[in-house]
Amino acid sequence: VPAHPALAEQLASATDRTAYPPVLGEEQARVACAGYFRRRGMAAEPDRVVLAPGSKALLYASLLAVPGDVVVPVPSWVSYAAQVELTGKRVIGVPVPADTGGIPDPNALEDVLVREAKRGRKPGLVVLTRPDNPTGTIAPESDIRAICELAEAHDLHILSDEIYGDLVHTGQGATDYAVSPSVFLPRRTIVTTGLSKRLALGGWRIGFGLLPEPDPGDATTRSLASDLTGIASEIWSALPGPMQDVVTLAADEPPELRAHIADARRLHGSVSHAMWRVFRDTGIECREPQGGFYLYPDFEPHRERLAAASVTTSTRLAEVLLESHGIGVLPGEAFGDKDSRLTVRVATSLLYGKDREQRQAALDSADPVRLPWIEAALHRVRDELAGLCG
Ligand SMILES: Cc1ncc(COP(=O)(O)O)c(C=O)c1O
Repeated sequence: VPAHPALAEQLASATDRTAYPPVLGEEQARVACAGYFRRRGMAAEPDRVVLAPGSKALLYASLLAVPGDVVVPVPSWVSYAAQVELTGKRVIGVPVPADTGGIPDPNALEDVLVREAKRGRKPGLVVLTRPDNPTGTIAPESDIRAICELAEAHDLHILSDEIYGDLVHTGQGATDYAVSPSVFLPRRTIVTTGLSKRLALGGWRIGFGLLPEPDPGDATTRSLASDLTGIASEIWSALPGPMQDVVTLAADEPPELRAHIADARRLHGSVSHAMWRVFRDTGIECREPQGGFYLYPDFEPHRERLAAASVTTSTRLAEVLLESHGIGVLPGEAFGDKDSRLTVRVATSLLYGKDREQRQAALDSADPVRLPWIEAALHRVRDELAGLCG
């Protein structure tokens, strides 16, 4: 999705901002980001907002700052487990529920926490993603509440990755944001987000987060802001000045940016749903997408036929889809699933157009799946899948 011109202008007008900004962010930007969080039901104050070059940096800094091993859902975004390993901590993978991804199944999580406690170990963090990458689903509020209760009972902190929070397909804006665990457990939740997905500015590297409300009885959250300041100042120093201006404008959410995000939401929703129907019609299992722009089909129903073509792993399946059918996907194994499961992650945003003009037309269209290049791409995927699976 092309950058909105108002953001491009804001960036262009700030090139003389060459001084180092404050480590955790400038006051004006932190005030704007606190407003963004508050409009989504979170009790945010500017002094608990942190800015960074991408939410990935904030996720990593949080993993470093909060002591203890880390629970990640299986499957989940590729970087969580990789980052935990970089910190030298242990990854505790817990399967997601059957219907949605992005969270550990609450019952399975409880079993794991009890088992860990029996062994004298206490995990420090659980990572949640809503809406989710890779499944494109949104875990129900009841499960989020259940995880918050477990976190409270087991002295666990929550790292809530809300980078796709504004891309709920049925959403109308701030009020339809995928509700944050920070609303239920503000003293234990770190929220991370940014402009990479909802405004499609991944390469501009703009992330921001919300730290937990101060809890005098919790040493971890008490020192979190100063611990993050230390980590940030030793690794990235600060979010660059021009980007502080961009994030201030974006977080203030003027009507033209709200409209831009609403268009993006419609585009992601309609293409993801069309692609989901293609998988479903081909007899491939797939959770119905609810947010973001990913699908996580499971080719299990076609295992026999695929095995006859020597496709028995997600890695091989991804290779065959690319090499023989021209469909680029990532294997489920990259998201922590067993390689023997025939899952892959599909990014539907790859279908929006080959150049800026096509992608802008897709963004502006009331019915993007009727655009000739998107329709043709969906037909081609349907034919290729039929060829592979029969
Ligand atoms: C779930 C998830 N979190 C975080 C990120 C990274 O975001 P950022 O560009 O803010 O570092 C991505 C990017 O793909 C993602 O899918």
